Amino acid sequence: MATLWARRLSMAEFKAALAADAAAITDFLVPKLAVPQRGILGEAMAYAVQGGKMLRGFFVLETARLHGVSPDGAMHAAGAIECVHAYSLVHDDLPCMDDDDLRRGQPTVHRRWDEAIAVLAGDALQAQAFALIGTADLSDAVQAQLMVSLADRGGADGMVGGQVADIAAESAGGALTLDEITALQAGKTGALLIWSTMAGAVMAEADAAPLRRYGEAIGLAFQIADDVLDVEGDEAAVGKAVRKDDAAGKATFVSLLGLDGAKRRAAELVDEACDALNGYGDAAATLKDAARFVIERSH
Ligand code: IPE
Ligand code: IPE
Ligand code: MG
Ligand code: MG
Ligand code: MG
Repeated sequence: MATLWARRLSMAEFKAALAADAAAITDFLVPKLAVPQRGILGEAMAYAVQGGKMLRGFFVLETARLHGVSPDGAMHAAGAIECVHAYSLVHDDLPCMDDDDLRRGQPTVHRRWDEAIAVLAGDALQAQAFALIGTADLSDAVQAQLMVSLADRGGADGMVGGQVADIAAESAGGALTLDEITALQAGKTGALLIWSTMAGAVMAEADAAPLRRYGEAIGLAFQIADDVLDVEGDEAAVGKAVRKDDAAGKATFVSLLGLDGAKRRAAELVDEACDALNGYGDAAATLKDAARFVIERSH
């Protein structure tokens, strides 16, 4: 049964709130990345973090606000997850992976510079993420927990493992079951998103279980929306190449459930995500708006 919730922000208001957080994270990150002595490496790192929705950074900041965490600590953690996310996209776009020329409406890093700079900017962004956490206004214990969980969720048992499974599935010609694709996406897309939704509770040393449940549902809904956008979206609006999944013979939620079935499943997941937040009362209204945005977005 669908759950009703009080929507505090209209979709336009939510997008404005998200854009304000994205601008703050960008202003924080760019001077730390584009350091003059780094030359084009620093330029490529700063280029790679800009122009996205910064939804993962937003989840860190919003769950931190929910838990009353220090804004400085939260901003460092938000910057860290956006660095890891940006690195994952720079490498995902390389010719040896998805071979994409367009990202966020701009040339991909290897097209703007070259493949070596794209590989190395990705490497350096990953390292920078851990340095950001290690210099945050957070206790040593919290810094350690954030670093270990980011290494786990970003690495072989999280995002990187999911990317490997994604490539293996493509070579297998799309013969995947719904359970297999759900497991693959939980790594590829879910792992970093779940880290970001749990971050506020981790920083506050509070119970992170509700935010984990929220993140698990959001992560899956987010990837279903990405698959739907690949079918229905317009390249100019989405800012990256579309209609690639079917052409690659890739198993996706859309190929397995159909377009309507995939949208229905995503809507159910949004309800599940919102139900997970009921214990927070009205304070979680913006996170519920974010859940709706995840499936209503056009890019
Ligand atoms: C795209 O992520 C890659 C996936 C994990 C599906 P986003 O849609 O969050 O990309 P940006 O950061 O807003 O460009
Ligand atoms: C990429 O998934 C996810 C990561 C980079 C971890 P996709 O390959 O589907 O993402 P897009 O469609 O290129 O953004
Ligand atoms: Mg990919
Ligand atoms: Mg890709
Ligand atoms: Mg995609």
